[in-house]
Amino acid sequence: MCNGIIETVSKAFRAHTSATKQSFLLLLVLAVVSTGQGSGCVRPYMVQNSWVNLTETNRGLFPVGTVLQYSCDPGYLPDGPSILTCTTLGRWSSEPPHCIRSGACLPLSKPENGGYTCHPSPCRMFSHGTVIEFFCDEGFILSGDYNYLTCQDGQWDGPMQMTCVSQGCVRPSLVQHGSTNLTDTNRSLFPVGTVLQYNCDPGYLPAGPSILTCTTLGRWSSQPPHCVRSDVYICLNTCIYFALIIWIEQTQ
Ligand SMILES: *[C@@H]1O[C@H](CO)[C@@H](O)[C@H](O)[C@H]1NC(C)=O
Ligand SMILES: *[C@@H]1O[C@H](CO)[C@@H](O)[C@H](O)[C@H]1NC(C)=O
Ligand SMILES: *[C@@H]1O[C@H](CO)[C@@H](O)[C@H](O)[C@H]1NC(C)=O
Repeated sequence: MCNGIIETVSKAFRAHTSATKQSFLLLLVLAVVSTGQGSGCVRPYMVQNSWVNLTETNRGLFPVGTVLQYSCDPGYLPDGPSILTCTTLGRWSSEPPHCIRSGACLPLSKPENGGYTCHPSPCRMFSHGTVIEFFCDEGFILSGDYNYLTCQDGQWDGPMQMTCVSQGCVRPSLVQHGSTNLTDTNRSLFPVGTVLQYNCDPGYLPAGPSILTCTTLGRWSSQPPHCVRSDVYICLNTCIYFALIIWIEQTQ
């Protein structure tokens, strides 16, 4: 009888301790949850003209790994990722997308040696009304008359291919025993498309291309030639010729 009482008491005690443990654990969980660190993500904000598959409307915090999908209403398109995951950092993998009226324009590629900025910024989606402003890197200028393009009902209002052309090539180096037909001695930059010709002094011959063009990259099409004394030049070619013959004879 006495044993029976002891058993009941100890059972009750054990039950009590496990209940304490449980409430302790619950408290711990609540504490972790309330600090919001690594425990879950807070309800993301509502997005106009969209629907998200969150059916539990009363919940404030969603566990790590929860996946949400945003869908835009008909006639609207998301401007960013529409699937969000709750990461271990307690943050959604991205901001919810905005749902923007469709009528978007095709994305534009950035010009070489330049780029563009969008208004409104940043460039996420080229929706109706988006204005794009082009710019070029230093030393380059936009070719053509347009600096801006506006998206109007799915169409850009100007040419989609913008190019940044170099403002010119710097004066090429002087060549010993030669000259160029660049008579404009005060100029330091020569516009893209400038053609120049090197001429070697009498008795000298050019080694390398003697006609250079200023390319859109702001560089001459090649290095200036060397002016080589014609007897050396002929000798060089002859020497190479004889060296080849000797080499061929030796290898046979
Ligand atoms: C929402 O939809 C996504 C993708 O279809 C699915 O993976 C996810 O489990 C859904 N989330 C909820 C809370 O129903
Ligand atoms: C070159 O520059 C000098 C000094 O700046 C000036 O006096 C001269 O007239 C210029 N020559 C030409 C051809 O423009
Ligand atoms: C130099 O000569 C080339 C080839 O004759 C010609 O095409 C070019 O226009 C000339 N350039 C200048 C600056 O006179």
